[in-house]
Amino acid sequence: TTGGSDAAKRRAGERAAERAEDGFVVGLGTGSTTAYAIDALGRAIDDGLEIRGIPTSFQSRQTALEASVPLTTLEEVDGVDLAIDGADQVADDSTADAYGALIKGGGGAHTREKLVDAAADEFVVVADPSKLAPTLERSVPVEVIPDAYSVVSERVRELGGDPTLRAAECKDGPVVTDNGNLLLDCAFGSIDDPEGVASTLARVPGVLEHGLFVDLADITYVGTDDGVETREY
Ligand code: A5P
Repeated sequence: TTGGSDAAKRRAGERAAERAEDGFVVGLGTGSTTAYAIDALGRAIDDGLEIRGIPTSFQSRQTALEASVPLTTLEEVDGVDLAIDGADQVADDSTADAYGALIKGGGGAHTREKLVDAAADEFVVVADPSKLAPTLERSVPVEVIPDAYSVVSERVRELGGDPTLRAAECKDGPVVTDNGNLLLDCAFGSIDDPEGVASTLARVPGVLEHGLFVDLADITYVGTDDGVETREY
């Protein structure tokens, strides 16, 4: 739920939903842009499309239920044909190795999102122009088991990052994820080597998953005020 116009998000989401075909298992990402894709899938289902969705969060499950998208789970399917998901930042310098790398987890859902997005034959990102950046620079959300937040914070500082325990807005204390864990938003400044940061963070004990998605996206649809731009990686 960051910036960008609703019309642009809707265009991106609706374009991505058009990639779903009869029989597909579709990963349903989290956030306001993907919600437009889920709504569009619901309308296509009303018109006869036969798909099953795998939600990536409580929110995406609710959106899918409201749109009457039949749901399934990873353990019930042989594979995921298509995943549609938003992003908080998309690396958009086509000359850089990191082209198409993402920062996700602004909604705290990146662990299940990465699980489902990585399982998909095709992972389509839906975004608006406010998400594009030459180099990734937003804070990287890191989901940690509750006991680990202080030691992981210390390790992130040793790695040159600045961690902040994400605080809840409508309750005292921290945000607790759908998985019962905590979130550290880790500022690393400009990230020239997302692959390196990703693999380093993944090795820190207590880290469940971080929000750097490297070499996962296949396509990004960027909704604009008058159309949709396509990036293919
Ligand atoms: C959820 O944790 C995030 O990864 C979302 O996918 C991301 O925040 C995109 O949300 P919006 O489409 O609302 O910006």
